[in-house]
Amino acid sequence: MSNSPAKPTVELVRNALSAVLDPTFERPLGELGLIEAIEVEPLDSGMRVKLRLRLVAPSESHKARIETEVRKALFPLGVQEIELAWDLNVSTRQLTGEDPVPGVKNVLLVMSGKGGVGKSTCAANLALALQRAGARVGLLDADVYGPSVPTMFGLEGGHPTSGDGVHISPLERFGVKLMSIGFLVEDSKQAVVWRGPMLSTALTQFLKDVDWGKLDYLVLDLPPGTGDVALTLAQKVKVTGAVVVTTPQEVALIDVYKAVSMCEKLSIPILGVIENMSYFIDTAGVRHDLFGKGGGDKIAEYAKAPLLGQIPIEQAVRECGDKGTPIVQAEPASASAKAFNDIADKLVRGIAIEQWKRSGGGKAPTGEGPTRLKIVR
Ligand SMILES: Nc1ncnc2c1ncn2[C@@H]1O[C@H](COP(=O)(O)OP(=O)(O)OP(=O)(O)O)[C@@H](O)[C@H]1O
Ligand SMILES: [Mg+2]
Repeated sequence: MSNSPAKPTVELVRNALSAVLDPTFERPLGELGLIEAIEVEPLDSGMRVKLRLRLVAPSESHKARIETEVRKALFPLGVQEIELAWDLNVSTRQLTGEDPVPGVKNVLLVMSGKGGVGKSTCAANLALALQRAGARVGLLDADVYGPSVPTMFGLEGGHPTSGDGVHISPLERFGVKLMSIGFLVEDSKQAVVWRGPMLSTALTQFLKDVDWGKLDYLVLDLPPGTGDVALTLAQKVKVTGAVVVTTPQEVALIDVYKAVSMCEKLSIPILGVIENMSYFIDTAGVRHDLFGKGGGDKIAEYAKAPLLGQIPIEQAVRECGDKGTPIVQAEPASASAKAFNDIADKLVRGIAIEQWKRSGGGKAPTGEGPTRLKIVR
């Protein structure tokens, strides 16, 4: 019999993994407390290692990079097969005693100040991108004057129910929980004529009286302008932060700057900027900057936040929204869907890093609630 190399034990595997850097936190996995379980099984030749690792953000890019590093670290030990399982336990915002949505780990505002830039489109597609990456997601249409969620999710005429006469059950589509004033009025295209205080009450009720359950992310689609809605929210709920949507043309950015300033005044962190309708690719594959260039970078610089990505103009984006299945769900292979997925990925990693820093930078932050096995798409 030939002398076989030392059999990898759980201890050896743990040691080898301790050197693997987590690509988001740039610290060893072990130090961050992200290794949940290690099992070693003998094979006819070599060994199989079964690993269970924890994610604090639903990020495909993060997973792929860890997987590469884990393989690099373990194959030299004589490991033949590696089985990786993932738990997702999303890190959480700070909760106050009076929080209207204590079961919601993160509240994300999608805003712009400017009308028609694609806030609702971004909010819907981000919500779906997060859901498809394994997170529990809700989308609240905070635009009571011009709700978009019923149309974008094909739920016009849908009405939420209430089991106990107090709480409203949100509707659900493609795995995302949804609430919109459009579900409560007869015709969702009819404008709701409400003044400030009523608006504020309605919004608070949408947070407090809707049975959101446990969510990793609640995305709020804000109306244009910088008025009551953001103010109300800032007072009632400690939001994780805002995603600012802009278009590329510099001349039209004034309202977006105003929205950024308002966030600063209200101490709402800006998590990043999305440049929508950035460019158009024609049938010959040539890129056209129809609306100019640079808006996203300018706003990102002003907000001291990352430019999360650029979404091209694609006819399918509008068509899918109008038909009730946002593009991330309807055409996941399209350029826009890929851009939305990348943006969601970057966004959640940024949030996790901020929450980790805030928690003192030791072990990776864990939110409350059960750890769930992530289902890979
Ligand atoms: N990248 C894109 N490519 C093509 N069409 C788009 C894109 N983004 C948004 N649209 C379309 O532009 C229109 C405006 O988008 P949307 O309703 O999302 O903007 P908004 O900022 O929410 O508007 P409002 O200020 O009225 O709330 C919609 O018809 C939408 O389908
Ligand atoms: Mg809108």
